[in-house]
Amino acid sequence: MHIRVVTDQPWDVPADLLAVPIVGEPAWDGTLGELDRRTGGELRAQHAFGEVRSKPFATALVANGDLPAGRVLAIGAGEAATIDRRAVVRIGAAIERRLEGRAVHTLAVSLGDLAVLLDGGASAAAELIARGVVEGGFDPSTIYRDAVESALPVLDELVLIAPGADAVSVAAGAERGQVMGEGANLARRLANRSANDVTPRVLADEARAIAEEHGLSIDVVGPDRAAEMGMGMFLAVGQGSDNPPQMIVLRSGPEGATDARGRLLALVGKGVCFDSGGISIKSADRMEEMKMDKTGACTVIAAIATLARLAPGTPLLAVAPAVENMPGPHSARPGDVVRALNGKTVDIINTDAEGRLILGDALTYAEQLGATHLVDVATLTGAVARAFGELVTGAFGTPQPWFDDVMAAAARAGEAFWQVPLVDEYRADMDSWYADLTNSSSSDGGLVKSGLFIREFVTRPWVHMDIGGTAYFRKARPWASRGATGTTHATLVELALAGAR
Ligand code: BES
Ligand code: MN
Ligand code: ZN
Repeated sequence: MHIRVVTDQPWDVPADLLAVPIVGEPAWDGTLGELDRRTGGELRAQHAFGEVRSKPFATALVANGDLPAGRVLAIGAGEAATIDRRAVVRIGAAIERRLEGRAVHTLAVSLGDLAVLLDGGASAAAELIARGVVEGGFDPSTIYRDAVESALPVLDELVLIAPGADAVSVAAGAERGQVMGEGANLARRLANRSANDVTPRVLADEARAIAEEHGLSIDVVGPDRAAEMGMGMFLAVGQGSDNPPQMIVLRSGPEGATDARGRLLALVGKGVCFDSGGISIKSADRMEEMKMDKTGACTVIAAIATLARLAPGTPLLAVAPAVENMPGPHSARPGDVVRALNGKTVDIINTDAEGRLILGDALTYAEQLGATHLVDVATLTGAVARAFGELVTGAFGTPQPWFDDVMAAAARAGEAFWQVPLVDEYRADMDSWYADLTNSSSSDGGLVKSGLFIREFVTRPWVHMDIGGTAYFRKARPWASRGATGTTHATLVELALAGAR
């Protein structure tokens, strides 16, 4: 998709379709008034009728009147007070999704009021609309099919209309948004692929291809080296499967380098290619969703690729422990005691609490590789989904200023998080008779305890993002397909970009 920025008025822009976001209760003067006049009053009439206000992201398709665009799509953007970076991404995505099955090759979007309402003006609006249009075009139903009946349009051109704006800075914004969206879609596509397709080895192969494409260095630690190093938790989870565990390490920038902030940030992503629960096997109900348990890994791999496109050479690590959690004669058993890479011993009470085991060793390894700051992303608990649902990611972190830094990146990315406390007093519930700690205990406060467990394996500033609720949608939304959402990709990239020179 090629992106073109025009500083003309929207009524001078030819396209298959012109999308016009309508914020709140417009006065129908200025640009919107002129567009309405040229559609013969249809735009305003549809709005008055309620067609674009009936629910969030409602749309009305309007004939073009004497406009050079083939058709006009009015889309309800919500009240002015609700227009933030997240909302604008969703508007872009909802426009693209509304065009499912339609013959649209050139889509024009009038940035209009969005540019006025956003900090960063037209270039911010262009970035977020472009990202939204790209993300809106993601459809997992095409992964294993040659054709679908009603496909999302594959655009040749996206035209962003910003009258009077500085075209160069708006185009730079749009390009950034497109790259961000493509990165999220890379993560989503990988995450959505099935477990018979994406084994730990295949995920490592995909990471190798991505590293080659973007000039990243890569090292994949297989089971033998992992055993020599002492990654006892990582190996315990992987040992039940015929598909051997792979610790995938990607690096941007030279070894030993720190970023503009004097940091080496490591992004660590849970890569459980399938989580059957192991010997503590899950019930059959929705077990198929556990192919998505590698989403954190897919996200950090995509994020470092996106960073390489936007700010090549910026120091960053991505560590993705990839395993398959399976029951079998070689599996770890409940009650097995293993030694973690950091030397602590762990009593595996529940083999289904596997994410924290592989993350613990991956975080220790990231520190050994020189990471000064850590962020991990994981589909770690069902509890976080019960607490916050599909739209808000639960996040933990310490010390607080580092957590706040990460949340500032989240605001730039337009992603929603809620901080979960690390309640020290609960740590005693995880004491073991046989080891330094257990990987699971009484379920009260289970979400908090999952964070406390991981904290045992970090000594540097650290944030943990539990995407157990937000990694994938069970049903489509106006702005997103069902399946992997790409959540946290933009936040991680924004965070890493803060260290670009
Ligand atoms: N991958 C699951 C968490 C999960 C479940 C994410 C459903 C998304 C949807 C994780 O490995 C797991 O099994 N967690 C257990 C932890 C428990 C055994 C302490 C859970 O949440 O039930
Ligand atoms: Mn599990
Ligand atoms: Zn899991």
